[in-house]
Amino acid sequence: MSTIPRNQWYVAAYGREIGHDLFSRTICGESVLFWRTESGDVTAVSDRCVHRRFPLSQAPSRLVDDQVVCGYHGFTYGADGRCVAVPGQTRIPRTARLTSYPVVEQDSFVWIWIGDPARADSTRIPRAPWLDSPDYTTVSGMEPLQARFGLLVDNLLDLSHETYLHGGYIGTPEVAGTPITTEVDEEAGIVYVSRHMDDAECPPFYSKSTGLSGRITRWQDIEYTPPCLYKLHSRIAPVGVLPNADGTDPDAFHVEVVYAITPETENSTHDFWAVARDFALDDESVSDFLRESNRTVVLQDVAALDVLEQVIATEPEGYQELSINIDTGGLAARRMLAAQLAQSADRTAVAGS
Ligand code: FES
Ligand SMILES: [Fe+2]
Repeated sequence: MSTIPRNQWYVAAYGREIGHDLFSRTICGESVLFWRTESGDVTAVSDRCVHRRFPLSQAPSRLVDDQVVCGYHGFTYGADGRCVAVPGQTRIPRTARLTSYPVVEQDSFVWIWIGDPARADSTRIPRAPWLDSPDYTTVSGMEPLQARFGLLVDNLLDLSHETYLHGGYIGTPEVAGTPITTEVDEEAGIVYVSRHMDDAECPPFYSKSTGLSGRITRWQDIEYTPPCLYKLHSRIAPVGVLPNADGTDPDAFHVEVVYAITPETENSTHDFWAVARDFALDDESVSDFLRESNRTVVLQDVAALDVLEQVIATEPEGYQELSINIDTGGLAARRMLAAQLAQSADRTAVAGS
């Protein structure tokens, strides 16, 4: 039984990854072929030829103008997935059509709708406007994770692990030592988890990037929109420095950490990460440092979650986890994901009946 909610938007790629070349990525178990058409739009169709399933991303399949020619026997498809030529006959079978996916390019991401295309509503795609805003400088990447996406959701919703797994990078004793507050907005479909540290050690990730030395006020405000988009609003300031009454906050440093959590298969995940900052905008050395540090931190998580996946895969049925206060955000996220999954299962059942 699948654990991946359908009828949802997922991040498939960064816009920069897709040019006028064939690009393939498996999203939610579906092998998808992307390219950027001559008019600049990203197109997404199934990466399996309808004839004998040959992957259209695989040489000698090739792109000719805005049509993809299968490298096995030459079935040719347009950007909308419609077959326009088959070998040896002029009649093109009516069903010769690749599944075509709704895609939207927004906030530097290419979003794809996995599910019934008639239900795709692009206004419901959650936003991460910092990632292509001129007021921020962003570094980003993607690491493959050999673990189910739910493990990454658990990981990101409970940052107390920073103290242990990321000690010396972004973890300090105060992260695990400070209680969280959790709120759920059922209507908007968002889980909020906040941890405000009033007097904390400044970890190297922030001391080296901001230049702050000494103790800091450190706020972590998480906003997770299941299934895919996770945002950590991070505020760093000298101890005692708070935002002004009107909401302006000129003496603090703001870092927007964004993750897109996209299932590749039931047991593997595309771990997209981005770090946007509102300071040292033109300082390449700060960009290099944050890129390298965040990638290191992501790889620490990847290593831990890859191990966890193996543990789960080999354990007997019925293992009972123990949850405590730090897990309230993760448990709320699991509930929302379970509801999304139940909804997509209902719809599949209705469609199939
Ligand atoms: S498999 Fe593509 S044309 Fe035969
Ligand atoms: Fe982590």
